[in-house]
Amino acid sequence: MRKIEIKKGIYWVGGIDWNLRSFHGYLTPKGSSYNAYLVVDEKIVLVDTVKHYLFDEMYGRIASLIDPAKIDYIICNHVEMDHSGSLPDLLKICKKAEIIASQNGEKGLLMHYDLDRPVHIVNTGDTVKIGKRSLAFVTMPMVHWPDSMATYIPEEKLLLPNDAFGQHIASCERFDDECEWAIIQREAAKYYANIVLPYGAQVRKALEAVSNLDVEMIAPSHGLIWRTHVKDIVRSYREWAEGRQANKAVIAYDTMWGSTEKIAKAIYDVFEKKGMSASLLNLSGTHISDVMTEVLEAKYICVGSPTLNNGMLPTVAAFLTYMKGLSPRNKTGLAFGSYGWGGQSVDQIENILKETGFTLFEKIKAQYIPKENIISEIFEKLERSLL
Ligand code: FEO
Repeated sequence: MRKIEIKKGIYWVGGIDWNLRSFHGYLTPKGSSYNAYLVVDEKIVLVDTVKHYLFDEMYGRIASLIDPAKIDYIICNHVEMDHSGSLPDLLKICKKAEIIASQNGEKGLLMHYDLDRPVHIVNTGDTVKIGKRSLAFVTMPMVHWPDSMATYIPEEKLLLPNDAFGQHIASCERFDDECEWAIIQREAAKYYANIVLPYGAQVRKALEAVSNLDVEMIAPSHGLIWRTHVKDIVRSYREWAEGRQANKAVIAYDTMWGSTEKIAKAIYDVFEKKGMSASLLNLSGTHISDVMTEVLEAKYICVGSPTLNNGMLPTVAAFLTYMKGLSPRNKTGLAFGSYGWGGQSVDQIENILKETGFTLFEKIKAQYIPKENIISEIFEKLERSLL
């Protein structure tokens, strides 16, 4: 097993999930990795573990460096099972290892596993000396679980923030400068949009807490390690957490006979005419997690569906449910769609956009197939709204 030394005496010993294609509904076409880190000092420390089915891979990497039974501390930065799933098997081998977690981490661990030992609870500001290095802890509640925390090694200027700054990428490369920046940046944005987005206020707090730390490397628990683009990814997180908006639109819709699509294209033409960027995304072929990546920085979110059986199409309902849960902030919404006789879908979409906290443009409804004069009206109405 190949282990990778990320700093002298500190190794990546994680697992690569090449075949992962869905992370509880978040499409992961590039797979993912679960990054565990081994610090070899007077004390031996493992920071996080991997999903249970990658235990052997992680174990092999650790065993190529040290006798795993000699691990002194296992840091559990986050209880979610992609990082704690190998803990039960590991504890059978690491008889003397002490588990370190936040207070909520202890609670979570006890609700997931029958632990054979107590958990050493740490809070922000606590440190543990491990030889020539020390571990400092920063709790980051709700980034993105109540238990989440970061471990910082000041002597190495190394931050291990678990999910924060992660990306779902499986690769044999380990560092940001070994992959194309545009790809990593896009995957980091997708990760933020689909996992971290509801917790902007908590991210801002966490960024404030780590802003006092001298950091030259950020080693998250998924994807590539940041060593060249540390400032870039921190800046991106700050902007996303502050709800940065680009003058850009997302038009997400589904259609039955092409009429709602005709309206969607008319809406697209307006944004295009205004010189704005717009994405036209048919929800029957675009995954909702990819739509959310576009939503992250878009100011205008237009959602359309025809009326089917007194409601909207299920693809549109799924997207709205998903987006509402992720609570994007500072957006302007527009509901649109065609109908035959009832026309309820557009009102239902508008209600959900309102419940999501969006300010609203006047909705657009068209009966059956919108003729050119109706399309022109739609065009002019939206153009006026964008003035
Ligand atoms: Fe990567 Fe919240 O687990």
